[in-house]
Amino acid sequence: MFCHGKDLAGGNLAPAAGGAAFVAKWQSRPVRELFGYVQTRMPYHSPNNLTPAQNADVMAYMLQYSKVPAGAKDFVGDLSLKGDPKRGEAFFTEAQAERGRQAFNRNCALCHTTADSKLTPQQVNEAPLPNSFAAPFLGRTYYGKVLYPTVYHLFTKLQSMPAFGNESITNNTRADIIAHILDRNGFPAGKTELKPDVAAMGQMMLNEPGFEHVFNGKDFTNIKFVLGTRCGPEPGGCARTEPQDTLQVMPGGTIYCKCDLHGYWYYSAKKLLNFTVRFQHKFIKPEGWVGDEDIYMGGGGWLMFIQDTNMQGFGKSIEIEGRVRDMADIFFLGGGKGKFTYDNAAKTRVVKPFDWNDIEIVSKDGQVKTYVNGVLSSTITEHDYPAGFFGMQVEGSPTEWRNIRIRPE
Ligand code: HEC
Repeated sequence: MFCHGKDLAGGNLAPAAGGAAFVAKWQSRPVRELFGYVQTRMPYHSPNNLTPAQNADVMAYMLQYSKVPAGAKDFVGDLSLKGDPKRGEAFFTEAQAERGRQAFNRNCALCHTTADSKLTPQQVNEAPLPNSFAAPFLGRTYYGKVLYPTVYHLFTKLQSMPAFGNESITNNTRADIIAHILDRNGFPAGKTELKPDVAAMGQMMLNEPGFEHVFNGKDFTNIKFVLGTRCGPEPGGCARTEPQDTLQVMPGGTIYCKCDLHGYWYYSAKKLLNFTVRFQHKFIKPEGWVGDEDIYMGGGGWLMFIQDTNMQGFGKSIEIEGRVRDMADIFFLGGGKGKFTYDNAAKTRVVKPFDWNDIEIVSKDGQVKTYVNGVLSSTITEHDYPAGFFGMQVEGSPTEWRNIRIRPE
């Protein structure tokens, strides 16, 4: 009232907040947008000081004054999109998103907003700085590359903010603000709060709807082991079904494989034929390694369509080679048939022996394409394997894997 005038007609300090001019300004925009503006920007001297319910009442008055017909129901303030479980996993709680909204309004709203965006995804990609961080903001790309693939990547950008002093907020507050931005991009809220833990945030995928974790980052739920290649697993055979210290879960959600024998592990939740699997794979540099890294051989590979886990060896499956020197080569194990093509020139350029390699395997309609660090390295053009388990070889060379996720189709 102090600013907008006793009868909402506006004055020297601020525009009209009711009446014809006000209606002209807002009539083509959704009420939620106006509500978002009021909630996050007003009152001017202490934005966000009113509760959503109080703002809803204030708005009802503004609308009534402007002769917008009243309805039977109270107007209920709801800024949040409905969390869509298909959009991604739940990385934050509702209470945290609310804290984040308040922290955003205090520290960021001077220059940014999280009110509903009027931009199309393409406009968001092209904008030097999109005016809102609400959907479709998180899908933002730069020359075709996703800018915020994980929560971690968003976090690193927030570490350069707020512009008037990076140290004016803590990393816990950044996590809260991320919760708010996720909420405004349609991510569902869950039971666990987001923590500013760099390794954990690096596993929280923001632009991969439909993917599920093969490895949950904490324990070996849904993972089975067949360690030893001379016979099938215990009790019928002699292969170990417990990881013991051959495979361990490391802080930050990496699997470390001492890989002190040959065998494999597999994702036992479902048999799959059409799917996309993504993960990162890295060999551990042997102590005192001298010279060219490319000649390190390494051992290991990725197993597709594992048919029978009671068989000796790696069972009937297609192996996509994981060794450094022939990464992505194809082996039809156990008597299946198929055809393939390689791009050796491309892949030898991109394999990183002792660093994380991004692997993507796409199995669709009888074809399997394997990408190493984004480069198509081999293609199975036909094969006769039915649906089976996805797994990884344990083959003598110490290895690490992380971010293993799969999207069944
Ligand atoms: C005083 C103005 C100001 C404040 C306050 C401010 N920012 Fe920024 N922000 C900017 C400017 C300018 C840019 C563009 C330059 C850049 O990317 O650093 C930017 C860019 C960003 C981006 C990158 C968006 C993209 O994808 O292009 C994010 C995310 C962001 N800010 C988040 C925040 C958050 C969260 C806060 C509050 C903690 C905040 N900012 C506070 C001015 C500000």
